[in-house]
Amino acid sequence: MEYFELNNGVKVPALGFGTYQMPSSITEENVSKAIELGYRSIDTAQNYGNEAEVGQAVNNSDVPRDQLFITSKTQTSGYRSTLRGIDESLQSAKLDYLDLMIIHWPTIDNSGTYKALEDAYKAGKLRAIGVSNFNSNKLQSLINHAEVKPMVDQVETHIYWQQKKLHKFLNENNILHESWAPLGEGMSPVLSDPEIVKIAKKYQKSTAQVILRFLTQQHIMVIPKSTNPAHIAENLDVFDFKLTDDDLATISNLDQGHSDVNWPSSMGQEAY
Ligand SMILES: NC(=O)c1ccc[n+]([C@@H]2O[C@H](COP(=O)([O-])OP(=O)(O)OC[C@H]3O[C@@H](n4cnc5c(N)ncnc54)[C@H](OP(=O)(O)O)[C@@H]3O)[C@@H](O)[C@H]2O)c1
Repeated sequence: MEYFELNNGVKVPALGFGTYQMPSSITEENVSKAIELGYRSIDTAQNYGNEAEVGQAVNNSDVPRDQLFITSKTQTSGYRSTLRGIDESLQSAKLDYLDLMIIHWPTIDNSGTYKALEDAYKAGKLRAIGVSNFNSNKLQSLINHAEVKPMVDQVETHIYWQQKKLHKFLNENNILHESWAPLGEGMSPVLSDPEIVKIAKKYQKSTAQVILRFLTQQHIMVIPKSTNPAHIAENLDVFDFKLTDDDLATISNLDQGHSDVNWPSSMGQEAY
């Protein structure tokens, strides 16, 4: 596993395990398997309805809590409901703290919502805080009023939507770029792109592994999701090779500069 460092000094695994659309009935089993295999970071959300099962897997694991990095996301707007929501997440997951809590998407009261994250951070309930699906303008206005600088922005990022402008903004502000849908959510043809197929053959890796390596080499945290045991193992096995500068340039050129899903609309290229 490789690690990145957040702007408050907290270390975060470069690659974690996503749980979006993972039914709660199979989440504990899948997360436990992922931790056994060596995943150390798990991404859940209030909206996914599986925080309790992620927490069960964490609490039943032999891996010490301080070696795991658990992320959740708010689905509230405003100070009071967000503070309450954070406590409910902790109770539901039966955890004393979360490693990262992010605002899932921009709300009508971003500053109140973020203030709740800041207070929970100061109270030791969260080791890091940040946002998701925030474009640079929205993030800049949040930073202008924040007491605690956000540490992460989790946004749709894959080889066809590389978020180059936002990536530059995040680097300049020392905010970690985290990718959701690194493999195109299984709906995009990223995994069968002919250039990726060629590069994968050269390294004797799968196309998914080449894509995950490309993103992590760009200093982008990834959280691929799978319920297929072979894919879960394969996605973790990406740190024993390094793409050359030529291969990085080839993949960089595959960027189409737009989203696959156009959600949320504020993340469109024209928003920058
Ligand atoms: N902040 C947000 O708004 C937001 C939005 C979306 C997602 N997320 C987070 O980001 C995580 C990842 O995104 P995602 O789940 O949407 O999409 P993803 O990880 O890009 O893709 C998941 C799909 O890829 C397939 N897959 C995984 N590994 C594969 C492999 N090695 N070979 C072939 N197919 C493979 C999976 O099918 P199998 O199960 O068959 O392997 C599944 O259909 C989520 O789970 C969630 O935690 C956050």
